[in-house]
Amino acid sequence: MKVAIVGTGYVGLVSGTCLAEMGHNIMCIDNNEEKIKTLENGDIPIYEPGLKELVEKNRKEGRLSFSTSVKEGVKKCDVIFVAVHTPPLPDGSANLCYVEEVSREIAENMDDYRIIVSKSTVPVETGKWIKRTVDKYAKEGAEYDVASNPEFLREGKAIDDFLNPDRVVIGVESDRARQMMSELYAPLKDKTEILITNIESSELIKHASNSFLAMKISYINAVSNICEKTDADIEEVARGMGLDKRIGNKFLQAGVGFGGSCFPKDLSAFIKIAEKLGYDFSVLKEVQKINKNQRGLVIEKIRKSLWNLNNKNIGVLGLAFKADTDDMRNAPSIDIINQLVKEGASVKAYDPEAAENAKKILPGAITYCEDVYETVKDSDLLLILTDWKQIVEMDMKKVKELLAEPATIVDGRNVFEPEEMEKLGIKYTSIGR
Ligand code: UDX
Repeated sequence: MKVAIVGTGYVGLVSGTCLAEMGHNIMCIDNNEEKIKTLENGDIPIYEPGLKELVEKNRKEGRLSFSTSVKEGVKKCDVIFVAVHTPPLPDGSANLCYVEEVSREIAENMDDYRIIVSKSTVPVETGKWIKRTVDKYAKEGAEYDVASNPEFLREGKAIDDFLNPDRVVIGVESDRARQMMSELYAPLKDKTEILITNIESSELIKHASNSFLAMKISYINAVSNICEKTDADIEEVARGMGLDKRIGNKFLQAGVGFGGSCFPKDLSAFIKIAEKLGYDFSVLKEVQKINKNQRGLVIEKIRKSLWNLNNKNIGVLGLAFKADTDDMRNAPSIDIINQLVKEGASVKAYDPEAAENAKKILPGAITYCEDVYETVKDSDLLLILTDWKQIVEMDMKKVKELLAEPATIVDGRNVFEPEEMEKLGIKYTSIGR
């Protein structure tokens, strides 16, 4: 099928490339000429393992092209995905002005039947607004359907999550739309569940799923706080919990807390939607609070290890909101490093991919290192904030020698084992152990 994807960010570019890989003819569209030029030069504006190769392959095989023109996309393609960003407004609700703009532009250029599919994470009832917008700007008698097809892509694993999903969720309100969306995902039907429902349910599945995952993380972080006040080990507790198939062992990793462009945004949007619908989603507010507290707890551990932070040398390993991404959005490192600098510490940091993005956000006062050992050298304390492979596989004997005495590590991701650290003579604190 011929498909246009409007918005070539983390979601749009991965979705378009994977749909091309599934055999469809894809046009990825963005109004950012710079971005489109980069893509046409064979470069990728974001870090996502395997994406560059997959884009190249599908471009070469003629199934993937790029454009800045929505008009061209609407003329040539039957299915138009809206994959533009929906950033949070100051009050926490989702900013849908880009979704509206694109819906209008699609409507104004529609001559034949089209399906307009919201791929972006949007609040429930957005489908209704897209319809109203299209009705307002479409030509007399234009035939179309609106559909919802939320994404469940994790940064760093997005391609695998798209091509081998746990489920595909589609929200439609006509048989014709159902037919076409089923055809679009037919290549996946033997390896996953294709759930077709109405638009509102589809929109809600996304917010409810993401908020649940965030709640699971805050839950295990809350339990880790209790572990710290007893002799319990959160890793053992999480393992014991996860063996219950009803709980599952995923997203039970205690740590410095979640970040990224989705959980924080989706949580605040879901709370806002509920409020507008007259429901106080208080448990999700608690999820946000617990998550924010985790950053403070890590700083407290640093103070306990170093006393005053003034003029102390702190090495930070990992800046991105998690490993295998260059994304700094809502990364725990931002709040933590800002606070350390505020208290007079001199901070040097290393991240395999996110340093360039970090430089645009973090205070100029921090030094960026080229590798883990340069970050470790002469640091009074080493702070672990992501579990990048380069960090997990460090030579800890070498780390011990390079650290200023007494060698001290605060591990925000429970990457290392306390017993091993003790054997090496490293003063080691982590989360919930
Ligand atoms: C998430 C959802 O997983 C994905 O389905 C949705 O489409 C987008 O949002 P993403 O934000 O890319 O994906 O990353 P994810 O791997 O879910 O991690 C989110 C945050 O939670 C990261 O900061 C990560 O470090 C943290 N996390 C994750 C934990 O602290 N503990 C865990 O056990 C898992």
